[in-house]
Amino acid sequence: MTQIEFKKRRKNIMQQIGHGNIGLIPSAHHQMRNRDVDYPFRQDSDFYYLTGFNEADAMAVFIPGRKKGEYILFCREFDKKKQLWEGKHSGLEGAITDYGADDAFPIDDLNDILPNMLEDKHRVYYPMGRDNRLDNQLQNWIKQLRNKSRHYNKAPAELISLDCILHEMRLFKSASEIKLLRKAAKISAQAHIRAMKYCQAGLYEYQVEAEIIHELMQNGLRSVAYSSIVAGGKNACTLHYINNDAKLRKNDLLLIDAGGECDNYAADITRTFPISGKFSPAQKQLYQLVLDIQLAAIKMIKPGISWNAIHKMSIQRMTEGLVELGLLTGKVDKLIKDEKYKAFYMHRLGHWLGMDVHDVGDYKVHDEWRLLEVGMVVTVEPGLYVQADCKKVAAKWRGIGIRIEDDVLVTKDGCEVLSADAPKTITEIETLLQEN
Ligand code: GLY
Ligand code: MN
Ligand code: MN
Repeated sequence: MTQIEFKKRRKNIMQQIGHGNIGLIPSAHHQMRNRDVDYPFRQDSDFYYLTGFNEADAMAVFIPGRKKGEYILFCREFDKKKQLWEGKHSGLEGAITDYGADDAFPIDDLNDILPNMLEDKHRVYYPMGRDNRLDNQLQNWIKQLRNKSRHYNKAPAELISLDCILHEMRLFKSASEIKLLRKAAKISAQAHIRAMKYCQAGLYEYQVEAEIIHELMQNGLRSVAYSSIVAGGKNACTLHYINNDAKLRKNDLLLIDAGGECDNYAADITRTFPISGKFSPAQKQLYQLVLDIQLAAIKMIKPGISWNAIHKMSIQRMTEGLVELGLLTGKVDKLIKDEKYKAFYMHRLGHWLGMDVHDVGDYKVHDEWRLLEVGMVVTVEPGLYVQADCKKVAAKWRGIGIRIEDDVLVTKDGCEVLSADAPKTITEIETLLQEN
């Protein structure tokens, strides 16, 4: 992503904040894993979207019309000793020359400087209720300003969530964002292919996970976008299974939900395939049902269609399919009304995808489900999960969990499946697995 694009975004947010107001957005903090060991640092997506700045201990401030510069970055000062331990950091000079800040101050001086910046501003836009540190600081700064003068209130009058404007911007992906999402999806699709080729009974799930990470990193994706789910057999029926420590069994399916991150843009792909290389008749029937729904959903994606209409279609088709196969009995309309399908299909069809795997943006506007528009990116991921102890269905269905998930960009003429390289028809999968 170029600095020009970050600058363009700041110009946009500056206009929406408006003169006489101020915007604040903090970086992510280092998170401790255990004594003296941090989790790998991942920048806050909102902060990165506006700054391109990848350090902790920073705060971006936007003051439209400020004479000495509208975009101010508080960050760590350059410190030779610190650099020896923690590596390179930009310092105040770098914030200006490399990251386009108009002005930069040491983060250690935030409490001294920021109250003055808030003075006489009407509104403060900030990510409300997300960063305890900032919530508390803001209250203290406002108190400080109130106490300053008993006759003239210099403190802001309104605190407003920055999310509403920022997340609406993030919902629509630019050409360069789409490029990154496409790259993340392409490499992640290759990682799924590698996992399929490698997989065999007797391995542990985490050994397959290692292959995925290998493929992502060898091809330039430094990190996974979320903890990979590598779930053999009935483990696939635990939706957020990430233990990945069970042994793979010959007659089971393997569900892999994994994707890498490219310059902070995520891929989110799921494939489900037979460990033996061949689907059993029961597995095949359930798999084909999920696949047909997924393909039908992707076919519907185009500008102007309601995202919820596609979800509703998936419920209709899933319920019909479950009745046809005998997992549910009764009238389809009544089963839908009573939400009986939720025993097997309990999540929604998909979600926005972007810098965050469950990306930001409202799904409803004025209480109405949103229509898809060009530049939005969604996942399409119907799933069917039959719990191992589900006594209501025939034994042959029990313990089967299937999800098929692709990343889909809404285009002028319909859509583009960014993750199309990962095989998903029964023939494609069986052919690939039997090549081994
Ligand atoms: N990987 C999380 C999801 O599919 O939503
Ligand atoms: Mn997903
Ligand atoms: Mn997923």
